[in-house]
Amino acid sequence: MRHLLELESVPAAELANMLDTAESMAEILRRPIKRVPTLRGKTLLLLFFEASTRTRHSFELACKVLGADSLALSAATSSTTKGESLLDTGRTAEALGVDGVVVRHSSSGAPQLLARHLRLSVINAGDGTHEHPTQGLLDLFSVRARKGRIAGLRVCIVGDVLHSRVARSAVHGFTRLGADVVLSGPPALLPPRGDGWPVELEPDLDRALDGADVVMVLRIQKERQEGGMFPSIAEYRARWGIDAARLARAKPDAVLMHPGPVNEGVELAPELMTAPPSLIAAQVAAGVAVRMAVLYLLLGGVGG
Ligand code: CP
Repeated sequence: MRHLLELESVPAAELANMLDTAESMAEILRRPIKRVPTLRGKTLLLLFFEASTRTRHSFELACKVLGADSLALSAATSSTTKGESLLDTGRTAEALGVDGVVVRHSSSGAPQLLARHLRLSVINAGDGTHEHPTQGLLDLFSVRARKGRIAGLRVCIVGDVLHSRVARSAVHGFTRLGADVVLSGPPALLPPRGDGWPVELEPDLDRALDGADVVMVLRIQKERQEGGMFPSIAEYRARWGIDAARLARAKPDAVLMHPGPVNEGVELAPELMTAPPSLIAAQVAAGVAVRMAVLYLLLGGVGG
């Protein structure tokens, strides 16, 4: 594997290998001195054309722990403001001698374009409404760590599935590893006919939550909506927001997830963010171990 562009095409065995590798990385992160020289001499360019806190900084931290160097390109101060194309930016990175690029872009398919034309490794850090594969991996990792398994779990994904690259990667990852996935949310924000995925569509949220082991709440992505997808924030909160009463429809030991950042009091009641069922902080922590694993597997850690 040279690139990580999506989870849709990753076989189950490879997903499991990435999660197992992330467990080894998590062990390094529990040591008093969190440094290994595994990727010393490697350089990664972080190309973030959209805002990010968790993904960008966990990649930076992953590089530091593994001994790799990271360079961050700020879209606002780079030559993209002078009209340089994404591909020319990628070619410039290649000429500078970097070993891999991590790219977040508003256009679905941007990382695939780079991967087709460049010889270095490309990691998708979220492309438009397509996928966010390292988020999918950290979601799998967090659930497996708490529940001990993925297969056979009922995973309820709630909200703006249509615009969510997080949901797409989660659907592919969880179903590939044997979970049952049900999607719920306003009909205008659910993919028509489930996009052909092996999932259940249940617009009635209470029924969708019934018996769920995992409740994954999605962020309302105002930046990707054309407007009019639901009547108002108040109506969204009343019909689709997750609060303690709604969460009680799921199994008593159900876990609660959200990729962040949370629109507090809209899709999720603020007091649930740090309540015992919440995996939100664990998801952020898992992001470092998972991204270390991806860098290790792509940039020559194996046998290197
Ligand atoms: N979950 C996620 O991608 O968060 P950031 O936008 O903060 O990176």
